[in-house]
Amino acid sequence: MGLSSSVVLITGASSGIGAALARELSARGAVVAAAARRTAPMDGLGVASVHEVDLSDPVHALALADAVVAAHGRVDILVNNAGVRIDGAVTDVSLEDLDRSFQVNVLSPFVLAGALLPGMRERGAGVIANVVAPQVSGGRRGMGAYAASKAALESLTQTLRQEAGGASGVAVFAFDPGWVRTELAPDGPEDPQAAALRLADHLEAGRGSREILA
Ligand SMILES: NC(=O)c1ccc[n+]([C@@H]2O[C@H](COP(=O)([O-])OP(=O)(O)OC[C@H]3O[C@@H](n4cnc5c(N)ncnc54)[C@H](OP(=O)(O)O)[C@@H]3O)[C@@H](O)[C@H]2O)c1
Repeated sequence: MGLSSSVVLITGASSGIGAALARELSARGAVVAAAARRTAPMDGLGVASVHEVDLSDPVHALALADAVVAAHGRVDILVNNAGVRIDGAVTDVSLEDLDRSFQVNVLSPFVLAGALLPGMRERGAGVIANVVAPQVSGGRRGMGAYAASKAALESLTQTLRQEAGGASGVAVFAFDPGWVRTELAPDGPEDPQAAALRLADHLEAGRGSREILA
């Protein structure tokens, strides 16, 4: 699937990899709907629409899917990029933080994919990309909530690929950005732009994959 005039919903587009991706895809001719809690940083990205949303409640994810379809008629490409990393040992993490980790990192992506997949299937084309973190998803000391939620997102990706893939024309893949310097990972060595370019190329190619794409 090419990108020109494709409607792309990117969550977590207010900073880091999502912001760089929103700018890049807009420059490649896509109609980008950018979503996050902070709207001001998204206003300067050259996107088609900006959506204020708190994805710590999946009901808001459902409303976001409706709002983007209402604004642009459809969603061709969904990028579940929004993520929250809450550090802390399993003995210390609060129920509230644990809940937020899973709502943002798993439940909202789940709900968005569920809401937007039927339209993609009907049109016989679409892409769903989930941004994962395989460096930690196998388990990481002091990052239990983040690691477990990203493992669940990998699992969701494989299920989606099986349910959506093949003859339907809908591609599903997980994307590993590597270690990127963002608010979530301030020590990361790589520039978000570089990771965003790689993800943009995968989206443009429109290939689903069982493997995690890097
Ligand atoms: N950086 C790395 O090295 C690395 C490695 C592996 C995977 N990843 C993944 O890459 C993705 C992007 O992260 P990043 O590194 O670019 O970090 P980032 O700059 O902190 O971006 C995170 C984005 O998620 C959004 N977000 C967080 N909580 C939200 C909520 N409750 N509702 C809506 N949006 C919310 C933030 O927007 P608001 O705060 O404005 O809501 C922000 O736009 C994440 O899924 C992360 O897990 C990053």
